[in-house]
Amino acid sequence: MLLALCGCLLLLSSCGTIERTVVAPPHIEGASFVGNKTCFECHTNISRSFAMSRHAQIQVIAGKGGDLHGCESCHGPGSLHVAGGGGRGKFIVNPGNKPEACYECHLQVRTEFNLPQHHPLPEGRMNCVQCHDPHGLDIMKPATSGLAMARVNESCATCHREQTRPHVFEHEAMREGCTVCHSPHGSINAKMLVERDSNLCLKCHAQIPVPGTAGLKIFIGKWDHTANLRLGGCWSAGCHAAVHGSQVHPRFLY
Ligand code: HEC
Ligand code: HEC
Ligand code: HEC
Ligand code: HEC
Ligand code: HEC
Ligand code: HEC
Ligand code: HEC
Repeated sequence: MLLALCGCLLLLSSCGTIERTVVAPPHIEGASFVGNKTCFECHTNISRSFAMSRHAQIQVIAGKGGDLHGCESCHGPGSLHVAGGGGRGKFIVNPGNKPEACYECHLQVRTEFNLPQHHPLPEGRMNCVQCHDPHGLDIMKPATSGLAMARVNESCATCHREQTRPHVFEHEAMREGCTVCHSPHGSINAKMLVERDSNLCLKCHAQIPVPGTAGLKIFIGKWDHTANLRLGGCWSAGCHAAVHGSQVHPRFLY
């Protein structure tokens, strides 16, 4: 449904199809929309990379002309800022590190951060822009191609050195990125895992029943795990404790 809000419409388009969501861009008393091209003159670097960002899809349609105002959907209408020659705190909104500016359009992310296990963002110890550049290429998250995931791991690496350093015995799962096992915003499971127990590992390592003399044996990989499985979870039972990779053991026992 489309609604007019303070004289403008905000259309969010995605992959060619237009999703019609209505959000109110920040309000600046007496200012009107001027369009991305005007911002380009003074904020050239940000404007260049922005063209390739997912956020370049944001369009504010102001008036009948259908002129595009992506920058102003987050920063508010810029006419007074521009007329005054720009400047910090001058008739423009800087959302800074406040997640509320992002929740305006990404409401479901707030729900994720409210789950019991989450990155300490609601506590004010972290913010969205530490992981997502609102203007840059990095915000892109194309499905699971190797390169994109390498980027995702890099962003985790800035704070989690221990898990991301190279290991002599690498766990190939890491090549698919941290998010095959962790929900980056939050989860109901400890350590923000996508699954609570051995199911996490069994997503990729099938249990294969093999008939034996004393009934069915359960193999995982090349190994008979029948007895081990009774001990508990793959890592929590103390077996594959080095889930991220090991310097000493090929099967990540420590
Ligand atoms: C999705 C929302 C969003 C859009 C769209 C957006 N920005 Fe931003 N912008 C932000 C946020 C959030 C920050 C604060 C980032 C930070 O604190 O690191 C910011 C910061 C800035 C800053 C201040 C940088 C500094 O040095 O402190 C400028 C200038 C800026 N944006 C210009 C633009 C321009 C020009 C465009 C369009 C080409 C644009 N923005 C589009 C969210 C947005
Ligand atoms: C005439 C040049 C000029 C134009 C045009 C211009 N700005 Fe600025 N803007 C500046 C200057 C100078 C600053 C001070 C910070 C700096 O030097 O990067 C600034 C700062 C900002 C900030 C940071 C404000 C803060 O309080 O931290 C944002 C956000 C911003 N501009 C957004 C925009 C947007 C969006 C547009 C287009 C609607 C725009 N600017 C057009 C010159 C300009
Ligand atoms: C005015 C609405 C709006 C605001 C405000 C906004 N976004 Fe977005 N965001 C979008 C749209 C539209 C897309 C692209 C369509 C999509 O994939 O959902 C997008 C895409 C994204 C993506 C990529 C999603 C994907 O699936 O690849 C991330 C990450 C993101 N935004 C983070 C942020 C952050 C962080 C902020 C706050 C600084 C923010 N957004 C503020 C509208 C917005
Ligand atoms: C610890 C790093 C981190 C923080 C902090 C973070 N994100 Fe994300 N976010 C990610 C990663 C990684 C993905 C990709 C998830 C995937 O590939 O499954 C993602 C995906 C997204 C997406 C697209 C998929 C989805 O879940 O809808 C949006 C939108 C998004 N984030 C917005 C935000 C907003 C808004 C904030 C702040 C309130 C935020 N993120 C904070 C790491 C983070
Ligand atoms: C800007 C820094 C930062 C970035 C980037 C970051 N994290 Fe975190 N991470 C934290 C902080 C802070 C905590 C909370 C640690 C605490 O409370 O002791 C945390 C906690 C975690 C935990 C839970 C640890 C525990 O002991 O419960 C996991 C898992 C995690 N992060 C995974 C990731 C993944 C995956 C990424 C990339 C998508 C990522 N982090 C990116 C700062 C970061
Ligand atoms: C194969 C699944 C898997 C992948 C991939 C994975 N993790 Fe983990 N991670 C786990 C499990 C399982 C735990 C819980 C370990 C425990 O409780 O002893 C964990 C725990 C953590 C913790 C808490 C501290 C610790 O070591 O126990 C952090 C931080 C973390 N992971 C970050 C990351 C980062 C960053 C990446 C990507 C570079 C990543 N993880 C990739 C499964 C994975
Ligand atoms: C995203 C898929 C994926 C997930 C999830 C995953 N793994 Fe792996 N794992 C692999 C791949 C791929 C290999 C290398 C090929 C092989 O040996 O099967 C591997 C190898 C291993 C090996 C070495 C096997 C050998 O014989 O050399 C162990 C041990 C292992 N994983 C344990 C785990 C544990 C424990 C978990 C759960 C915390 C887990 N894996 C989750 C994909 C995954």
